[in-house]
Amino acid sequence: MKGLILSGGKGTRMRPITHTAAKQLLPVANKPILFYAVEALIDAGISEIGIIVSPETGKDVEECVGDGSRWNIRIEYILQDQPLGLAHAVKTGRPFLGDTPFVMYLGDNLIKDGVGPLVKRFEDEGPDAFILLKEVPNPSAFGVALLDKDGAIVGLEEKPAKPKSNLALVGVYLFTPKIHTAIDQIKPSRRGELEITDAIQQLINTGHRVDSHILKSWWLDTGKKDDMLEANRVVLDEMTDVSMLGEIDDATRISGRVHVGKGSKLVNCIVRGPAVIGEDCLLESTYVGPFTSIGDGARVSHAEIEHSILREKAQILDFHGRICDSLIGVSVELTRSTGRPQAFRLMLGDDSKVEVV
Ligand code: TTP
Repeated sequence: MKGLILSGGKGTRMRPITHTAAKQLLPVANKPILFYAVEALIDAGISEIGIIVSPETGKDVEECVGDGSRWNIRIEYILQDQPLGLAHAVKTGRPFLGDTPFVMYLGDNLIKDGVGPLVKRFEDEGPDAFILLKEVPNPSAFGVALLDKDGAIVGLEEKPAKPKSNLALVGVYLFTPKIHTAIDQIKPSRRGELEITDAIQQLINTGHRVDSHILKSWWLDTGKKDDMLEANRVVLDEMTDVSMLGEIDDATRISGRVHVGKGSKLVNCIVRGPAVIGEDCLLESTYVGPFTSIGDGARVSHAEIEHSILREKAQILDFHGRICDSLIGVSVELTRSTGRPQAFRLMLGDDSKVEVV
């Protein structure tokens, strides 16, 4: 079994953050989302992974993830010239995939329980394809599956205006090489993409067996800012690797599960977990509330920050205000000169400079 992780695409829903960065490299609990996909595949026993990348962000992805040696596996990068759809990405990856069955994993998705048991079921039961489904409140934002009363898939639709069920396709798929023939037989959809839902429908139409499993645990598709914050919340909520590697003064109070990285210094702060503070951060007279991740090298003083992601080297100095539900990019400088205490909800792309007056 090989792994194919899709890390190309446009990321339009995550602008302005994605003007300068790949959304798959955005951190959840201070770790790039893409690492969760790589590690889920490794946990399932997969040691050959191809990562689909775009011309815009491919270099950054490759620099960040590397050749796989840090995990003792092999990672290959596959350039998709244009984001012409998930099935187009599979087509682009075909020389890497050869005739091997594979797990396709969307690089901006997170699932709780990993893929090991699914790979085992796929290998034991031998369907031509195996998809994961999840009940969602807003199915028209996803690929949607309709099942018959025995649970067999009747049909699939991509982002339907009037969904026939509330079962969304989760971004993890298991395929035999038969998917390649199906992809060769489909045409681009109305939005100009080669849709993986059409390819799976084509498998069904040509008499192939497509099995499904309805996921009960969480699945997160981090397409937008609030999805990212939710992913950060869920992962921090389950975080068990908690250590105090930095320095705190006597006035600082820490409660709950809080990880502080090495070289970080907290002076006169209150931190309520779950929260993660990276390496070499300096926090002074600051409140850090639950579900907050602070990236390496960040500096914060006289601020309250809660349910937010603050990226590497961001600086929020003498702020005298509250920041919540926010995603603040790399090296952002946020200052505030005067005014009564207020709360802010922000999404700031990398290198922004903002002065609130
Ligand atoms: P999407 O989130 O569906 O698409 P997108 O990244 O273009 O985002 P947006 O809708 O905000 O513009 O893609 C799911 C995953 O698949 C994501 O990690 C990007 C990746 N992808 C590719 O690698 N190639 C493609 O052609 C497409 C459409 C997506």
